Order: sequence, then C-alpha cells, then structure tokens
Amino acid sequence: MAYRTAIHGAVLLCLAGLFMAGCGQDPKSGRGLVLPEGDPQAGEEAFVRLHCNDCHQVAGREDLRTRVEPLMTVTIGGKTTRISTYGELVTSVINPSHKISRYYRTAPYSKEGVSEMRNYNEILTVAQLSDLVAFLQDQYELEAYAGPSYISYYPSEKATGK
Ligand code: HEC
Repeated sequence: MAYRTAIHGAVLLCLAGLFMAGCGQDPKSGRGLVLPEGDPQAGEEAFVRLHCNDCHQVAGREDLRTRVEPLMTVTIGGKTTRISTYGELVTSVINPSHKISRYYRTAPYSKEGVSEMRNYNEILTVAQLSDLVAFLQDQYELEAYAGPSYISYYPSEKATGK
C-alpha cells in the first residue's frame, strides 16, 4: 500500500513539474505572440524596397541581389536541419542582437555582441513585418538530420580475414 502511495506521489510531482515548466509563468515570455497573416509576395517586395539585400542573399534567389552593391553577405534560407520558428524570425528582424548565430559573431557581422544589422524599428510597419516573415519562412527547406557519423566499431569480416 505504501508502495502505491509513493508512486502516486511521484506521478503528482511530475505533473506539477510539467505544469510549471509548460505554463511558463514568466510574464516576459513570447508565448501567445501572433502577428496577422502575412503575404509572402508583399514580403519579397518589402525585402527589396527596404534594402535588406544590401547585406542578405536569399538562397536560390540571385535575382534579388542584382543592382545591389553588397555591404556584406549573410545568407537567408536554403537547406537547413532546423527551421527557425516564427518567433525566432520575428526576433531576428526587430531585435537582431538578441541571439547572434556563432557564424556571425565577428566583423563585419557584429561587434562586441551587437549585430551590425540595420535597425528598422522606427520605420517598419507591423504589416511589413508580418509580410517579411511570411516571405522568409518560405525560403527555408528542411533537410533530414543525418546524425553524427560513427566509425564502425566492429571490424568488418574482410578485415578480420573470416
Ligand atoms: C547592414 C546589413 C544588414 C541589413 C541591411 C539587414 N540585415 Fe539582416 N542580418 C545582418 C547580419 C549581420 C545578420 C547576422 C547577425 C544577426 O543575427 O544579427 C543578420 C541576420 C538576419 C536574419 C537571421 C538570419 C540567420 O540565419 O540567423 C534575418 C532573418 C534577417 N537578418 C532579416 C533581415 C531583413 C528582413 C532585413 C530587411 C528588413 C535585413 N535583415 C536587413 C545584416 C543586415
């Protein structure tokens, strides 16, 4: 009987833990943030009009970089093993220094943890932001993760001469 009570207690404790972790009581959590539905075509136009292409090339869309004198090249889109979430894409446009990928932690991309990405927050409308994110999301292609390649532990039959 005592055994059953102990299991009961453990299950309840787990549930309480899940509840606390899952419900994220942090008032600063981004949970629940949803922009209005964006239009990818309008997003592409905004991307060019706002000169995002001064610094970005979009995988497979060389046409978006003609008539541009690049300041630097940060590639957006293409094959990836992990697509950025909607929230991460929004954050990378309006708060680029929040999290800088390890590839861009040096000049000319960032300096002392501050992204060199242009700040658009005074001019970008909410409509432009949701269109841009809709456009950006379409550029990524999920690739299956191949996993680490292990060297075979067992010598092959040939090698052992069997
Ligand atoms: C002056 C250069 C510059 C301009 C202009 C610029 N960016 Fe960036 N952007 C960067 C740099 C540098 C990074 C990488 C460092 C970082 O994450 O902030 C970046 C990162 C990003 C990322 C994350 C990419 C990744 O794989 O981590 C997105 C998305 C992005 N920019 C979108 C935009 C959009 C949309 C615009 C136009 C509204 C824009 N950028 C304009 C320089 C720029």
